[in-house]
Amino acid sequence: MAGSSSGSRAAAGRMTLSDQRSGDSWELDVFDGTLGPSVIDFQNFYAKSGHFTFDPGFTSTGSCESRITFIDGENGILLHRGYPIEELAADSDYLEVCYLLLHGELPTPAEKAEFDDIITHHTMVHEQLRYFYRGFRRDAHPMAIMCGVVGALSAFYPDTTDIADPRQRLIAAHRLVAKMPTLAAMAYKSSVGQPYMYPRNDLTYAENLLFMTFGVPAEDYEPNPVLARAMDRILILHADHEQNASTSTVRIAGSSGANPFACIASGIASLWGPAHGGANQAVMAMLREIGSKERIPEYIARAKDKSDPFRLMGFGHRVYKHYDPRATIMRQSCHEVLDELGIRDEPLLGIAMELERIALEDDYFIEKKLFPNVDFYSGVTMRALGFPETMFSVLFAVGRTVGWISHWKEMVEAPQRRIDRPRQLYTGAEKRHYVPLDRRA
Ligand code: SDX
Repeated sequence: MAGSSSGSRAAAGRMTLSDQRSGDSWELDVFDGTLGPSVIDFQNFYAKSGHFTFDPGFTSTGSCESRITFIDGENGILLHRGYPIEELAADSDYLEVCYLLLHGELPTPAEKAEFDDIITHHTMVHEQLRYFYRGFRRDAHPMAIMCGVVGALSAFYPDTTDIADPRQRLIAAHRLVAKMPTLAAMAYKSSVGQPYMYPRNDLTYAENLLFMTFGVPAEDYEPNPVLARAMDRILILHADHEQNASTSTVRIAGSSGANPFACIASGIASLWGPAHGGANQAVMAMLREIGSKERIPEYIARAKDKSDPFRLMGFGHRVYKHYDPRATIMRQSCHEVLDELGIRDEPLLGIAMELERIALEDDYFIEKKLFPNVDFYSGVTMRALGFPETMFSVLFAVGRTVGWISHWKEMVEAPQRRIDRPRQLYTGAEKRHYVPLDRRA
């Protein structure tokens, strides 16, 4: 059905909204995407109607148009630029996924070689950053360090903060993807009092992350290909996920024209929350608290008890009302790592698998469509790789940086960029006048 168009987009149809109190009605354009739900264009609704839309938590709100990632939560589908996550996790590598997310197409062999070389030669950080790390207490949470250090990068790389310059935007993206593993490893080394390891150009991206974290100057380091592959896959699984909380934070920060480093730092801050990227660390704490398979029913009951704030960490998702496809791949990777390390009866994995089995058979979880998400198995895997639990969200941030910067780039380059400025339903005090202190009770 032809319809009016809003900006450059032709409407696929129209919806009529009517106010039963006033009798007013409004015609709203409907736009179709390539995949997924259509959207109703409310961009000028306030100007037409004097009403705001109201959607705390944005459960029914499309905040932008994007071509990067598509999620079908009902069917457990995740596509990056159209490619299924299962195929990318099986056949690609993290830097190729970075290229795909940033540029929209899989690279040719020459493009891939060039991109890998560019990233490899951006992995070192400004030498003065070492002194920045010394300002943190030894027991500082690595995510606190990452928030601070990444936000400070604009002070070390001011030559890539002009967001109007496409070349600077691209170099900033390359710098962020390349330097996050180095910064993450430095945060870990700070916490254990070991010397920082410079990146090695003869190692892959994932091998370098493991080397800079666990290598020491006193010994040679030989990467384990199985563990490096698992690390690379963890990064792929965390690379991007549509308009999640931290990505939306990056987009909102970027909409004001803030520099890319500050925007990514805001994404790290948002990711840290236990309901989001902090869940992997919370899953491990939960599994340790449960302590044995025998106590699982007690915790399942607590998760169902409305008066108990306890929730099954690693379960549930705002979008996935089916199995998170990343969780399936993560579980397989977890077993590969434990097998490679000869960890047969890892107790927390045993509890995790039994908890998953019981929950998936429980009517409460079935009815509420609560399935394991990417965080449920990632923690056991990352701990088996040798990372302390405080580093789990940092690894999530390393993987997600390319998603954040791809969305930031898409937002900055959008033809109709505007500052994001939502409104509200105000239920506070009506207008009243100031009472001087000596006249108050
Ligand atoms: C990530 O958005 C993304 O894409 C995020 C992410 C990404 O890649 O960026 O996928 C990464 O953040 C994964 C999610 C990690 N978080 C956790 O595992 C924490 C535990 N999960 C919950 O906090 C919760 O499921 C959320 C936050 C993930 C989703 O919350 P929603 O969509 O707001 O759902 P909700 O809180 O409205 O819950 C719906 C119902 C509620 O019951 P009712 O009020 O309807 O009776 O389900 C219940 C909730 O009580 N519920 C749970 C539960 N999650 C939801 N009950 C027990 N255990 C849980 N984990």
